[in-house]
Amino acid sequence: MSPKASSTSPSSSAAGSDIAVTPAPVTLATRSYRPEDRDAVVALWTACGLVMPWNDPDADIARAAGGPASDILVGEVDGAVVATAMVGDEGHRGWVYYVAVDPERQGHGLGAAMMVATEAWHAARGVPKVMLLVRETNTRVVGFYEGLGYVQEPRVLLTKWLNPTP
Ligand SMILES: CC(C)(COP(=O)(O)OP(=O)(O)OC[C@H]1O[C@@H](n2cnc3c(N)ncnc32)[C@H](O)[C@@H]1OP(=O)(O)O)[C@@H](O)C(=O)NCCC(=O)NCCS
Repeated sequence: MSPKASSTSPSSSAAGSDIAVTPAPVTLATRSYRPEDRDAVVALWTACGLVMPWNDPDADIARAAGGPASDILVGEVDGAVVATAMVGDEGHRGWVYYVAVDPERQGHGLGAAMMVATEAWHAARGVPKVMLLVRETNTRVVGFYEGLGYVQEPRVLLTKWLNPTP
């Protein structure tokens, strides 16, 4: 039987918490990214298909990890990095990127537990609304977010690179 996240709130602070995943004896411990996580995190993002040619994962880590209004949350099971989520408060809304669970551990409630941690991170900062983008090549994950209470809103996304297009 698959273990499932049994809690909708972490047991301690937003970035560092233990989230019970039952019925199997699996605990997802979440905390902020540390430099020694680099290889495991990049490998996880690569395995999950989240590393795009125009996104340098090291540059993304350098900008977000431990920032004044951003962080990368890492989820561990038995000391191994198995999940991540990048969080950021841009002053109006909160954003979530790089939501990833080790492919061998997907479908066991760990992704939902990571989203609990991301929402707690934002809530602790008074962020009223969490936003995220799903690439149109990855719409199969929309149901995952909808199951957690996220809704699709009719918006047009406009972007502009401030550096030469990567
Ligand atoms: C998306 C992802 C993080 C989900 O993590 P996970 O650990 O597999 O998800 P969970 O086991 O916590 O699933 C939680 C719930 O969502 C459901 N769910 C999971 N993936 C789903 C999907 N693709 N469509 C519909 N529902 C889904 C589960 O069935 C479960 O529902 P339940 O509680 O009613 O049984 C994981 O599949 C992943 O890392 N994917 C690759 C990276 C990626 O695409 N990230 C998102 C970028 S926007």
